Amino acid sequence: MRFLCRMFEHYSSGHVGNFTKKINRFSWENVQGKVMENYEDLEAPEKEFYPRIKTGFKLFKGDYVPQKGFSAHCNPQGGTYMKLADFMDHIQYSHQKPYSIIGQPGSGKTTLMRRLAKKFLIANKLVIGQKPTLWERCVSVFSKESRSYDAVLHMNIRDIPNQDSTCLTDVIFPPSVVTSLTKKERQCGLKNILDGKLKIIMMFDGLDQASWITKGEEKVGPWDTSSTAKIFANIMTGHLLPDVPIVISSREHSVALLSQDLRPSFVAALVGFSEKDGRSMYSQVMGENSEQEWNQIRKCNPGLHYMCLTPLFMIFYMLIKKVDPDNTPDCATGVMIRLIAILVESEHTRRIVRMADVQEFIKNLKKMAFHGMKEQRVVFTKEDLDNFNISYINVSDIIIKVPRISIVGQKVLEGAHKFFFSHQTFQEVLAALYAAEMDLENFKVLVDNEFKLPYWSVVRSFTTGILNNNQIDISSLILEPGQ
Ligand SMILES: Nc1ncnc2c1ncn2[C@@H]1O[C@H](COP(=O)(O)OP(=O)(O)OP(=O)(O)O)[C@@H](O)[C@H]1O
Ligand SMILES: [Mg+2]
Repeated sequence: MRFLCRMFEHYSSGHVGNFTKKINRFSWENVQGKVMENYEDLEAPEKEFYPRIKTGFKLFKGDYVPQKGFSAHCNPQGGTYMKLADFMDHIQYSHQKPYSIIGQPGSGKTTLMRRLAKKFLIANKLVIGQKPTLWERCVSVFSKESRSYDAVLHMNIRDIPNQDSTCLTDVIFPPSVVTSLTKKERQCGLKNILDGKLKIIMMFDGLDQASWITKGEEKVGPWDTSSTAKIFANIMTGHLLPDVPIVISSREHSVALLSQDLRPSFVAALVGFSEKDGRSMYSQVMGENSEQEWNQIRKCNPGLHYMCLTPLFMIFYMLIKKVDPDNTPDCATGVMIRLIAILVESEHTRRIVRMADVQEFIKNLKKMAFHGMKEQRVVFTKEDLDNFNISYINVSDIIIKVPRISIVGQKVLEGAHKFFFSHQTFQEVLAALYAAEMDLENFKVLVDNEFKLPYWSVVRSFTTGILNNNQIDISSLILEPGQ
């Protein structure tokens, strides 16, 4: 009997080993990439800068209104700053869950989630076949995080398929990993997690990009079949995987609207770089004389300076500045519109798009962005592009393509792809342009019915910016053929 038990343990430890290896490898690959790598004109700073983390504020409607959009002004009132190391400790050693990292668009949630997952993978020596850098090796030797976990899962929520009938493993594990594991391996992996024999930390990035609506739902067991929405809701309430640390990142609006039972018990907000770090990062990337430039913005355009403390916005500003140093817009909406104009007019686009088509192309892109917002969608299909008369080749500068995700039981279609704007803010500024150009009647309907909803908050700010500021040149996006 004992022999049989040992045989079984050996057999299942092989399964679990395979399971853990694949999860860790997936997560490692998922967290690769440098900051700013999408922007050819910018060189990432040598040093790693981190936006400040604030905790200890209350997150409920009325106390903290997070709907002011792409601006550091939506920093939560109250609360205290927490050091990154203390934050990591808190994730590991406190029993509050889920932990939620919130922040405005481009505040660095995805980057922080990746860096944290990477730190956990390295510190627990879970990186197989990869050589950590010297610095990463030092971190692992001195880190308190060593040997806390057997596996680290890092998932983008937008990659979780939204299905009416699915199971826990298919929700929490990446489709590519699920398909590569046998049923037995998946079951053994989950069983070991549930029994506490396999220590795992799960990090889910971008709750705001979920293609389902997370509401308080009835209870679901770990082996039940149910919808993605219900299963995920049960993870958030802690009914499923009660002993697994779960970190979820999200823009504020998705978290602020959650029902009481789904509210994370610990919320940390990313509230922009400190002035010192902002200045250092700007000077490291922009080089000579840039410190004076930064001080000048600080003195003359405090609003713009404040926004530049948001990582993404600083990047956008730096890009604009590089392209046209003497004629840089002095407000956020202006910076965004100039940026889209630059992307649309880029060398690459000029080569592949007939100038006569540019106007039509932008018009269609705005329309798709707007309709995506209406349906709360950030991922588009080939059919969507066809429906909006957008050819893939035209948009490759602005939309990046991802291979269609293979889902268990579903054949991977050849040549089919999913699309999403390389940054959600592009979708939002294009949607705002669409809104600003609407006729009065339709605009009124939009304002009366939809604009007040929180997921429109960024579009609302941009639209106001476009309509109120005469200096914003939206004509740069309405090119005449041949221009
Ligand atoms: N700490 C940082 N240092 C340097 N660049 C950063 C940092 N954090 C983020 N960035 C850069 O800012 C951009 C936006 O960051 P990120 O995607 O992490 O933001 P986000 O909060 O996840 O945005 P969203 O709300 O749209 O999901 C990226 O290009 C990233 O490289
Ligand atoms: Mg993100």
